[in-house]
Amino acid sequence: MPEKSPVIVDLKFIPREVEDGLRGAFAGREVINLADPVHKGRDLSGISYAAVWKSDPDLFTRAPDLKVVFSGGAGVDHVLTLPGLPDVPLVRFVDRSLTTRMSEWIVLQCLLHLRQHRAYEKQARAHVWEDLSQPEAADVTVGVMGLGVLGQDAIRKLQVMGFRTIGWSRSAKSIEGAETFDGAQLDAFLGKTDFLVGLLPLTAETKGIFNAQLFSKLSRNGPFGAPVFINGGRGGSQVGTDIVAALQDGTLGGASLDVFEQEPLSAHSPFWDMDTVYVTPHVAASSDVKALFAHVEQQIDRFESGLPLQHLVDRKAGY
Ligand SMILES: NC(=O)c1ccc[n+]([C@@H]2O[C@H](COP(=O)([O-])OP(=O)(O)OC[C@H]3O[C@@H](n4cnc5c(N)ncnc54)[C@H](OP(=O)(O)O)[C@@H]3O)[C@@H](O)[C@H]2O)c1
Repeated sequence: MPEKSPVIVDLKFIPREVEDGLRGAFAGREVINLADPVHKGRDLSGISYAAVWKSDPDLFTRAPDLKVVFSGGAGVDHVLTLPGLPDVPLVRFVDRSLTTRMSEWIVLQCLLHLRQHRAYEKQARAHVWEDLSQPEAADVTVGVMGLGVLGQDAIRKLQVMGFRTIGWSRSAKSIEGAETFDGAQLDAFLGKTDFLVGLLPLTAETKGIFNAQLFSKLSRNGPFGAPVFINGGRGGSQVGTDIVAALQDGTLGGASLDVFEQEPLSAHSPFWDMDTVYVTPHVAASSDVKALFAHVEQQIDRFESGLPLQHLVDRKAGY
């Protein structure tokens, strides 16, 4: 039997987690974890596979014979812009745990805004016992932009909580219990949306899509009047200054942001101190490293058995 090609691992995750995740992974195959200094300067030619997340700029010069590249995350914008990315299949990470985590974050944020949690936190700090009028989830329409793996799961779980759900994506979709809109129907979708959820990949088309003009088209007929913006996709899809202005002039009533144009978010960003804004540091759905390696291993097995790879990226579309 021919010797199995090693796998290059170049993941800028927490190093300890990568080391732990690699224990027992890729049985019978050498793993070259580039975080380990012993591999510094090692000849990587002849190696077929690499799992990458914010990899070193010279990776593809050092490894000129890759047959498949695996993204360490569900998004691939950080891979598609890597210098020298070879024209080979690019597989993104799709996994139950990642999907579940994102839906947890989306449902949590929708509930925080629905239940006016910031207002109650403020009251609690001031030792004020006072109830606010309380709409229920069924009074709110959550509009999800991006109906892929994450968007569809989020919709299912929002429905369980009782939210009305609608969705928008490039191509038309059919989702039980949710009205859906295709690329050309954006304005109609926005006009019905009280809480807007962003779960779009970052591509040339989605860059800066969450901007002042888009926010001005959202529904103002929800129980709180002003709409809420929740972004778990990519920071490059939003215009931060427009979000701040929209929150200040009342176009938006609140926001939950896990992603930003510049990460880490500057300590001087106004978002940290805005009463109606929840900030999380790009942790809505972190990749579980063990699950990532299991997924890469499974796809390599498929590839070597002549089966088609799954979760392939369409380079032209950019996701
Ligand atoms: N914050 C975090 O921790 C975190 C974690 C994981 C992922 N993410 C982000 O979440 C994104 C979505 O993940 P996913 O797995 O759901 O991706 P996916 O399965 O590829 O789905 C992407 C969705 O976006 C739609 N879309 C793409 N470009 C569009 C455009 N120009 N106009 C309208 N719709 C467009 C697609 O439309 P079609 O259905 O027509 O193709 C699809 O419905 C990732 O790309 C990543 O950036 C963030």
